[in-house]
Amino acid sequence: MPAPEHWPSVYRDRPEIFAAFARAEDPQGRIVARLAELANLEGTTALELGCGTGRYTTELAQRCARYLATDPSPALLELAKRDGAAPWLLRTRAERLPLKDHCVDRVLATWVLAYLRPGDRAAALAEAARVLRPGGSMWLVENHWDGEFQELRDRAGYGAEPGVKALIEAGGFRVAARIESELRFDSNEEAAAILGALCGETVAEKLRRAPRRSFGHEVVILQRAAGP
Ligand SMILES: C[S@@+](CC[C@H](N)C(=O)[O-])C[C@H]1O[C@@H](n2cnc3c(N)ncnc32)[C@H](O)[C@@H]1O
Repeated sequence: MPAPEHWPSVYRDRPEIFAAFARAEDPQGRIVARLAELANLEGTTALELGCGTGRYTTELAQRCARYLATDPSPALLELAKRDGAAPWLLRTRAERLPLKDHCVDRVLATWVLAYLRPGDRAAALAEAARVLRPGGSMWLVENHWDGEFQELRDRAGYGAEPGVKALIEAGGFRVAARIESELRFDSNEEAAAILGALCGETVAEKLRRAPRRSFGHEVVILQRAAGP
């Protein structure tokens, strides 16, 4: 059983910690480049769910004709605003979107859908299907179930990522790509502080015993067509 993690309380009370984690992710920029390429964003109207600090918002928005980035966390949206994403932001949960039916071509979300409670995930997927135009599509970035970051957190194995498993087996998503990404912090101390705060004391203790600042992080891009 993986040790408890603290992501939601960090979003609320220590958003800078999550911002530092987001900055460490994928120094080569592989994830956003591949997502934009596969989702074929040029000229589309796109909706981003759970944009957090907006780490991908500006880059994705610039490829689209129209873009809206949403998140329920005031603290994370404040950081997104500070980093230049203000023109695209709206505070809302993915389960209740204040949008008309069939008004977007793409729904995008990075590390959001797998971590919602099952009922909220189902509601968010139904909302995404409602707002997508026929012929549109939904694209997610989620953790792959293998790799050094998963091992560090004791979450390696398909069954240890139940949300990702549910999206693939019951949510109708296919794996469109697997990407070998990296988490790279500026120092061992920063890695221990940020990952300890997010992933809990077991991870902090592992990093005290064997300090390091770089971790392989495998991710998947999941895709499903418009429709319930
Ligand atoms: C792991 S973070 C990912 C943030 C961002 N997509 C990124 O890649 O950095 C999860 C995000 O989901 C947001 N979130 C939590 N519950 C949500 C919900 N019910 N609807 C939409 N977003 C939600 C959080 O506020 C947080 O920004």
